[in-house]
Amino acid sequence: MAILPIRVYPDPALKEKTRVVDSIDDDLRKLIKNMIDTMRAAPGIGLAANQIGVLKRVVVVDVDDDEDAMVLINPEITWYSEEREENEEGCLSVYPDKISVNVSRSLRIIVKAVNEHGEDVEFEAEGLFARAVQHEIDHINGKVIIDRTSAEERRIALRELTEQMGMG
Ligand code: NI
Repeated sequence: MAILPIRVYPDPALKEKTRVVDSIDDDLRKLIKNMIDTMRAAPGIGLAANQIGVLKRVVVVDVDDDEDAMVLINPEITWYSEEREENEEGCLSVYPDKISVNVSRSLRIIVKAVNEHGEDVEFEAEGLFARAVQHEIDHINGKVIIDRTSAEERRIALRELTEQMGMG
């Protein structure tokens, strides 16, 4: 078990576009295990590989305590519902438990990915699960919650971050 340090905004790893995974080997299985351990320890409901500094298109999501974490390799959202919902979101990389901002997301999505066994998967997600998957896929596309909120909320969040990090 390895709990790895989570990169904190504005770490450059959080702004990078990540690379497609082309083989599921022992290194990738180890990465996935470490991501799940790190997410659980935080605790959080999702984690993207670049949050621990690995620029690969891998995310883990676990919105339900009763089930195993879901592993999504090379995930893509192939459909977004027009119906959207705005809700507060925090992030393990953006001063967790202190900063949350309103983010509008599609209520339902269809996701295609490869699982940890190398199998293609496709599923519909809704509610908190859909929100978490959209949040994590944003991460591997180099975006964080403050890129997704209003200009006003971004300004307030950045000011708070600056103060908390002693840069103000
Ligand atoms: Ni996050």
